[in-house]
Amino acid sequence: MKIAVLPGDGIGSEIIAQGLKVLNALSADGLKLEIEQAPVGGAAYDVSGDPLPAATLKLAREADAILFGAVGGWQYDQLPRAKRPEQAILGLRKELGLFANLRPAKVFPELAEASTLRPEVVAGMDILILRELTGDIYFGQPRGVRKLDNGEREGFDTMRYSESEIRRIAHAGFRAAMKRAKKLCSVDKSNVLETSQLWREVVIEVAREYPGVELSHMYVDNAAMQLLRDPRQFDVMVTGNMFGDILSDEASMLTGSIGMLPSASLDANNKGLYEPIHGSAPDIAGKDLANPLATILSAAMMLRYSFNQDQVANRIEAAVAKVLARGLRTADIHRPGTQRVGTAQMGDAVVAAL
Ligand code: IPM
Ligand code: MG
Repeated sequence: MKIAVLPGDGIGSEIIAQGLKVLNALSADGLKLEIEQAPVGGAAYDVSGDPLPAATLKLAREADAILFGAVGGWQYDQLPRAKRPEQAILGLRKELGLFANLRPAKVFPELAEASTLRPEVVAGMDILILRELTGDIYFGQPRGVRKLDNGEREGFDTMRYSESEIRRIAHAGFRAAMKRAKKLCSVDKSNVLETSQLWREVVIEVAREYPGVELSHMYVDNAAMQLLRDPRQFDVMVTGNMFGDILSDEASMLTGSIGMLPSASLDANNKGLYEPIHGSAPDIAGKDLANPLATILSAAMMLRYSFNQDQVANRIEAAVAKVLARGLRTADIHRPGTQRVGTAQMGDAVVAAL
């Protein structure tokens, strides 16, 4: 199992180090892993002038899976768009065809108290957000900033989805629902957008092939509200790139902390890139404050989806649950009565629990 490890910027290297501790412990236990690291994002720009150097892309292409940290930092905010760290993750997704982004938002019983919503609203919540990742307004052309006749500037982006792009993510949504509670909610804005109208039509067509799944549709504004009102009504939510970006951040917070949420971005053959859904958090970088659990749980998803190692994945997830049950908490999920630990200590505790 060949894994490309791309730590990136900010807290990226600290959280990836904890993920590697876990993988190394499993390798010592007999799992055959081949791990190679490469710079990405701002870290790559600093050494090569390119956030996604050809060598990094090549390593990612040749690997069976990619474990990714996070990219971005204030020192890169003024760079032209093509040089910005975010282009690295967008480029990897596009170049590798990673169109299906799985973002599970599940409340660990021990953390129901850490949510900003009342425990009785979130306890037991278990949602899978399936976000389309290679289309939509993120990649649609034309885009740019142009000068209008009256002399002022106008910015523009294009939201677009082809039928085949909608169809393949819809299939992924139905397949995911089949493995869970068999409820799929498709989120769109078809009361306003043409793109969304086509989205809804195609999802309804695909639904005919999955009579066992209960399909519903929701406008994105309502979905944002329903996630706060009654998150337990959802099983799988399937949506486009931008709506999914926003709703997955919202859903993550219901679980207690964005620092807990892993993700998988898969291509048609289940090759995947695995990353925590949080960003590079430059404000806490290098302070041993970051929560490494989202990265460790991303490594578990990697073993499950790209390597079919369900048992090992379960073992990692059980180790995380055990550490939480023992009361260990990083700063983001710390509450009175629990034991506050740093990033590295949390990683060590998970390894010990394994
Ligand atoms: C995410 C992030 C990225 C996105 C950024 C870093 C480009 O917010 O993975 O959700 O918008 O997709
Ligand atoms: Mg995001």
